[in-house]
Amino acid sequence: MRRIRLIGMGPGGPEFLTAQAVEALRDTDVFFLLEKQGRGKETLGDARRKILDLHRGPGAYRIVTAESPPREKAQEDYLDVVADWHARKAEILGALFEEHLAEGETGGVLVWGDPALYDSSIAILRRVQAQHPDKFAIEVTPAVSSLHLLAARHAISLHDIGGDFLVTTARRLLAGGAKGQDSVAVMLDSNAAFAKIDPENFDIFWGAYLGTDHEILHAGPLKDIAAELAETVRREKERHGWILDIYLLRRRA
Ligand SMILES: C[S@@+](CC[C@H](N)C(=O)[O-])C[C@H]1O[C@@H](n2cnc3c(N)ncnc32)[C@H](O)[C@@H]1O
Repeated sequence: MRRIRLIGMGPGGPEFLTAQAVEALRDTDVFFLLEKQGRGKETLGDARRKILDLHRGPGAYRIVTAESPPREKAQEDYLDVVADWHARKAEILGALFEEHLAEGETGGVLVWGDPALYDSSIAILRRVQAQHPDKFAIEVTPAVSSLHLLAARHAISLHDIGGDFLVTTARRLLAGGAKGQDSVAVMLDSNAAFAKIDPENFDIFWGAYLGTDHEILHAGPLKDIAAELAETVRREKERHGWILDIYLLRRRA
């Protein structure tokens, strides 16, 4: 059996690695990195290499890289498009594991934030396991997510006392997903979806590039700051070529 570790690396800076993740990094034989093409993707790859250099020493670890297959634009069924993309990634990773990992060795994949939150690595590795029965065991190292760092930076809870909260995507927010909710965390936006919904009675707690040198935070009543914040999103995307942002919408009592 070979072991594949999905190591949650936190939302950017190396200071968010847990002690368990550092231990896992030190105890991994080969790292696998599927690199995406496109604006900002090299920055995400660099963040992974920086973490590996820090904990293993520059050039002192085995790393296998391959180009990540592009995701088709979701014209029709979004879930079909994603499933197809996962299948292609699983095929590539399965072949890399077969080629570069010897029996008894451990492979590692550094996962942005926490592997269980809006990340496809677990689903992809399950496919690899299904395609190569009894060959690979999966181990997940949990991590600080961007959602937790957002709450920490604004010094807020994610929900009211004893209340619940919804974590959703910009796509679902625009489809009416915030209706009736008191606390809604939104991920996978980058196009200021918050400015396209009814501000109702929401406050927004927003953060971009959290945990990096470019971190930006803003908070206030959505109706008052949505337009200016949308302009910030546009400006920062232009400046960096990409943006990672996340926010919590909280209904005022
Ligand atoms: C593919 S998901 C990965 C989430 C990740 N697994 C986590 O636990 O944070 C990417 C989304 O997470 C959020 N995100 C991840 N890292 C972030 C960061 N450093 N600053 C702000 N948002 C971030 C953004 O909403 C982004 O669109």
